[in-house]
Amino acid sequence: MAQQAVSAPELIPLARPVLGDAEERAVLEVLRSGQLSLGPRLQEFERGFAAAVGAPHASAVSSGTAGLHLALRAVGVGEGDEVVTSPFSFVASANAALYERARPVFADIDPLTLNLDPQAAAAAVSARTRALLPVHVFGYPADMPALEQLASRDGLGIVEDACEALGALHADGTPVGGRGHPAVFGFYANKQLTTGEGGMVTFADPALKERIDSERNQGRAPDMGWLDHDRLGFNYRLSDIACALGIAQLQRLAAMLAARAHVAELYRHALADVEGVQLPCPDRGGAQRGWFVFVVQLPREADRDGAVRALAERGVQSKPYLPAIHLMSFYRERFGHRPGEFPVCEDVAARSLALPFFPAMTEAQVARVAGELRGALGR
Ligand SMILES: Cc1ncc(COP(=O)(O)O)c(C=O)c1O
Repeated sequence: MAQQAVSAPELIPLARPVLGDAEERAVLEVLRSGQLSLGPRLQEFERGFAAAVGAPHASAVSSGTAGLHLALRAVGVGEGDEVVTSPFSFVASANAALYERARPVFADIDPLTLNLDPQAAAAAVSARTRALLPVHVFGYPADMPALEQLASRDGLGIVEDACEALGALHADGTPVGGRGHPAVFGFYANKQLTTGEGGMVTFADPALKERIDSERNQGRAPDMGWLDHDRLGFNYRLSDIACALGIAQLQRLAAMLAARAHVAELYRHALADVEGVQLPCPDRGGAQRGWFVFVVQLPREADRDGAVRALAERGVQSKPYLPAIHLMSFYRERFGHRPGEFPVCEDVAARSLALPFFPAMTEAQVARVAGELRGALGR
């Protein structure tokens, strides 16, 4: 008897960047120009990005992590200082403080927005606190007015981790990244705008421009002689090839962000009746999420690992996302963190599941993910 071929279901990946002819042309132009780094694309990308988020200045860097490091230095964080931050983030936001021998001090998160809870942050401030490092997690803006009030009361600096939040708006209409204090964006391949690897620091103080530009380039001032360096620096430069990719995407940023928001809306409908599954909090009070990922919270009794496996068997990628930073082995060993310290974060981290999410996702793909998730949870 002839065997019937059973085709595997189409794989739906977690993320997939959409780059096209404009990016190809922009990169080719740089390759042909022969100026692959520190060329004209750098300033062009910085100016375009600053304008996009309403910031007076921007400095492009090699990654979001590099940007966080330079931004913390720029607000004066150094050895022995404490930086109050969220334990519900990608590990880089806490690690950045450690690069300067400062200590990340965690405070619990708001159960709805999943961002640093300003009251918990206030309780975590000590005489050693030098800065607050809120994270706009999953692209939802943190409560900056409350955190700014806390910072000005206690004389603290602020660095915003906006790596996931391009396109987000605060309740007062300010774009995330445009409030004046350093805010850091990331351009890794899964981000709203990607240069493969890359990042951007936005800020208002012109003195920071000189400092950050110098520190990303081995401590060399723009007007200094060749190989003369007047301070400690790093190689955190972003190449002109990467900047060209970024410029091309800036030109269609609104459409790229709208496409993500549309996919999120499709998910909201497709998952509305899946019992017990909590969706990302809707925009509130004028604040607007810059859609980065679509992360749901599974019911407490659900077997999340089993769901990930079941989805994978059906061709749907998913990921427990994000794990609590304080419970990672390095942080437990280094700082003695234990379960129970930040109960909201721990509960959310134990239930979060990132579903496939990218701008070109079709309604049929969203429906398939929703159906497979329903099946995996037995709903
Ligand atoms: C919240 C957050 N902070 C920091 C980073 C670090 O950015 P990068 O990977 O560009 O260094 C990321 C992204 O991966 C992130 O999601």
